[in-house]
Amino acid sequence: MRVIHTHSEAEPAGRVGRLQCARTLAFDVVRAPGLSVGVHEAFAAAVAGRRVLMITSPTVHSLYGEALTSLLASQQGAHQYEVLPLGEARKHMRTVERVCELAARMKLDRRGLLVAVGGGVCSDIVTFAASMIRRGIDHLRIPTTLIGQVDAGIGIKGAVNLQGLKSFVGCFHPPAGVLLDPVNRLNRAFPPSVAPPKAKADDDDGADDEMTEIDVGVGPLEAKVGVGGRSGARGRKWI
Ligand SMILES: NC(=O)c1ccc[n+]([C@@H]2O[C@H](COP(=O)([O-])OP(=O)(O)OC[C@H]3O[C@@H](n4cnc5c(N)ncnc54)[C@H](O)[C@@H]3O)[C@@H](O)[C@H]2O)c1
Repeated sequence: MRVIHTHSEAEPAGRVGRLQCARTLAFDVVRAPGLSVGVHEAFAAAVAGRRVLMITSPTVHSLYGEALTSLLASQQGAHQYEVLPLGEARKHMRTVERVCELAARMKLDRRGLLVAVGGGVCSDIVTFAASMIRRGIDHLRIPTTLIGQVDAGIGIKGAVNLQGLKSFVGCFHPPAGVLLDPVNRLNRAFPPSVAPPKAKADDDDGADDEMTEIDVGVGPLEAKVGVGGRSGARGRKWI
């Protein structure tokens, strides 16, 4: 780094100016019915030519393991499927580290892709791991719970618990994409034909993010991250 001194030492101390940094992030949320039977072109497009590490939980594996492994098997290139014990009690740094170790063992490069298949916990852990591996690699989310599909899986945050503090450490790291299969969703309280609920884009971390309207359909999602660490999804989130 080159440091350029533009002020003279004779000038008084004080604020020189204020830098404002903001970036707009965009990713596609794609309705992808059929994922649960193990075939999908949106999945193929997302993973094509990349080394892929897919993470899921034992419950999701018992329901969709066959479909998920056949999704991976239909792809060329190195891929690995890992079933890890996940749950609120496992939402901690050791699980994130485990995902990072698996990625290291298969030598994921900067084009490598993590895939999270599961609820909000799976999404949080994989998002955080992806934000750190090689200083940030892509990840794809396939949320399979209602919270996952209307909130955790379509936001830009990932966090885990530390020392009993909920979502204490985390990151802003948007997914490369989100694939939603409304068929394989836990808590299917709102069938696709029914107007879904309002959801709060908040993961109990105290941030008072704005209310986000949930609608049925697909579309790109835009989010802005400011320097202050607050995030806000703009526009509609889609399930
Ligand atoms: N990062 C964010 O923006 C954000 C936002 C909201 C919530 N969250 C986090 O999300 C977590 C809650 O997520 P959750 O409610 O999805 O719980 P969860 O991820 O713990 O999943 C609940 C259980 O359901 C199982 N499961 C997943 N899909 C299933 C399916 N289709 N059928 C049957 N079982 C299935 C899982 O294996 C798990 O045992 C919390 O830790 C919360 O902090 C994060």
